[in-house]
Amino acid sequence: MAIVKGANKGVGAARYLITKARAASTSAVTAQMAPTHSLPPGFTAQIGQLEACTLPERVSGSVSDKAIADAMIGAWRRDGILQIDMSKTQQRLYQAANAASRRFFSRPPAQKRACVDHMSYSGYIASGEEITDGVADYSEIFTVTKDLPHTDQRVAQGWPCHGPCPWPDQSMKNAMKSYMSDLAVSGEKLLQLIEMGLDVPTGSLTRYTDDGWHHMRVLRFPHRDRTNGKGKKGRGIGSHTDYGLLVIAAQDEVGGLFVRPPRQDEQFANWEKTSAGLRENDAGWMYVPPAAGTFTVFPGDMMQYMTNNFLKSTPHKVGLNVRERFAFAYFHEPNFRSVIKPLPGYNAGQSPIGGIHYGTHFTNMFLRNYPDRVTTARLREEGRYHLLASEQLRDEDGVL
Ligand SMILES: [Fe+2]
Repeated sequence: MAIVKGANKGVGAARYLITKARAASTSAVTAQMAPTHSLPPGFTAQIGQLEACTLPERVSGSVSDKAIADAMIGAWRRDGILQIDMSKTQQRLYQAANAASRRFFSRPPAQKRACVDHMSYSGYIASGEEITDGVADYSEIFTVTKDLPHTDQRVAQGWPCHGPCPWPDQSMKNAMKSYMSDLAVSGEKLLQLIEMGLDVPTGSLTRYTDDGWHHMRVLRFPHRDRTNGKGKKGRGIGSHTDYGLLVIAAQDEVGGLFVRPPRQDEQFANWEKTSAGLRENDAGWMYVPPAAGTFTVFPGDMMQYMTNNFLKSTPHKVGLNVRERFAFAYFHEPNFRSVIKPLPGYNAGQSPIGGIHYGTHFTNMFLRNYPDRVTTARLREEGRYHLLASEQLRDEDGVL
């Protein structure tokens, strides 16, 4: 891998080195390279040469499925991230979602700010509103959680984080729902392959994802010189890990995502102590070059806990570039009520012994990230946090 330092003056050089580094890989991978991306200025990183996989139509347990599964596990343990090819349908759905995202973020600020819900964390988050490790992030976000009407029993009973998605219009709703529904299928295939790669019984992971709490962040990052000044120069999102099982990300051709490949000497457990800010300014980060027609996939906190650090939750961060940038992060998650337990063969008495209630972990993360949001204020005023400990909101067996 080439080490490249991003700088305004050095953009051309950085682009050259990226191309050269990728040229050492297969021609198929090189052909997928977008010609226009460059490392965000001010960042030093290895340039990732990601393992590229194509998901099978259906996971049948075949020899070729096992080969893909083993390659995936190896890639995550080495790089913390891998690349999967979009199908033709996925390319079309991604493009439609990306167009809807660009339309939404170009709306006047007042229209965007109106897209907020009191019961769910779905909806708009302005640039500078989200905090990572005490510093405002410049990302502008539309979050999509499970879109539940007020008549849904869970919403009516005040379950934390449950409520409607405040869509700006029907076309955004259609585009995002179609994109997410398709990714839910890929997410299940990935879990089935991971079960094969980890040599755990079929269903060890997928038993948690019936009516999974899958959600998504639709993201826009401003040009590095056109921010509102609330955060830190050039920093899009500070380093952190994500909450659940898997993250399936997509990005346009601009570039800005960095991941931190796993290291034996770095221990963290985001469900016990925040991993936000982890090694953000240290060496050892890897730039994820945009590649048209591909997703990138990495594990989240629950996968780390279940595998006792065999597959670690991948720390990542975003730098601002010299153009605005649009991206998606889809989260393939357990059911909100699930109490996640270590996988067979990976149970070494890791903490907490009794398992992790996913809904509580998710709620804690959103309370931490959005302390001033109306949803947080209402949850606290109405004293609904304690519901997370109730029997109704917990499935101790993980069999749904
Ligand atoms: Fe993230």
